[in-house]
Amino acid sequence: MAQQNIFDNEMFFDGYRKLRDKEVNANNLFEIPAFLSLLPDLTGKEILDLGCGFGEHCVAFVEKGAAKVVGVDISEKMLEIAAKENSNPAITYINMPMEKIDEIDGTFDLVVSSLAFHYVEDFDGLVKSVYNKMKPGGLFVFSQESPLTTAYGNCDFPRWTWDENGRKLYANIADYGVEGERESEWFVKGVKTYHRMFSTVVNSLADAGFTIEKMTEPLPDDALLEKYPEYYDLFHKPDFLLVRAAKK
Ligand SMILES: C[S@@+](CC[C@H](N)C(=O)[O-])C[C@H]1O[C@@H](n2cnc3c(N)ncnc32)[C@H](O)[C@@H]1O
Repeated sequence: MAQQNIFDNEMFFDGYRKLRDKEVNANNLFEIPAFLSLLPDLTGKEILDLGCGFGEHCVAFVEKGAAKVVGVDISEKMLEIAAKENSNPAITYINMPMEKIDEIDGTFDLVVSSLAFHYVEDFDGLVKSVYNKMKPGGLFVFSQESPLTTAYGNCDFPRWTWDENGRKLYANIADYGVEGERESEWFVKGVKTYHRMFSTVVNSLADAGFTIEKMTEPLPDDALLEKYPEYYDLFHKPDFLLVRAAKK
């Protein structure tokens, strides 16, 4: 099956880069702190990062003592930035779809992925490959869009219902139980992601042999809400799901 490589689309890439360059965005406020909180001590670890993007996590892992990091990404444009801004002798960047990680040599103490799995159609197959690429006792830590966020129908109604003061009242969820491809407009039309139910995510991990240690759906605390009240919408519908699973 052919993977979509939307991050190499010029307009998409520019929009995404601008979003990530903003100091205040949901990644910086919620996803990254939650992701880091699930990581073990990285000293001496060999790490595989799937959908590594600009390589910011890869370089941070080395700074935290990792012995070796392999960053995989399907996008040449993302890896160009990684090579320019986040290179290090302990890091190897590989331009390939993560669905082919069986072709990478060796096994890893830690496999991570931040916000890339919702672009992957065959999650079940991917999780089995990840398990095979891990050393016994290794950890698998990943984030993805929440199944409540990917649960929109391929239909025309708005994602939110608002009140007359422009406040989000509730998320309009549709077709939660219809798994598979979704097409949306994010910087450009025709961005493909894949929706899976919570139970499918959990069952794929369990079927591959993983033990789930922790799942988290980051929410704003009172201090954050005071500064950025608009993020109250995460209480209606979380943006992210994060998982730490172990190969016992
Ligand atoms: C939202 S970005 C996240 C980048 C980085 N992990 C981070 O958190 O900053 C998703 C990344 O996944 C990559 N990606 C999407 N589908 C992929 C696939 N099938 N194989 C490898 N990389 C993929 C994209 O090219 C992009 O760099």
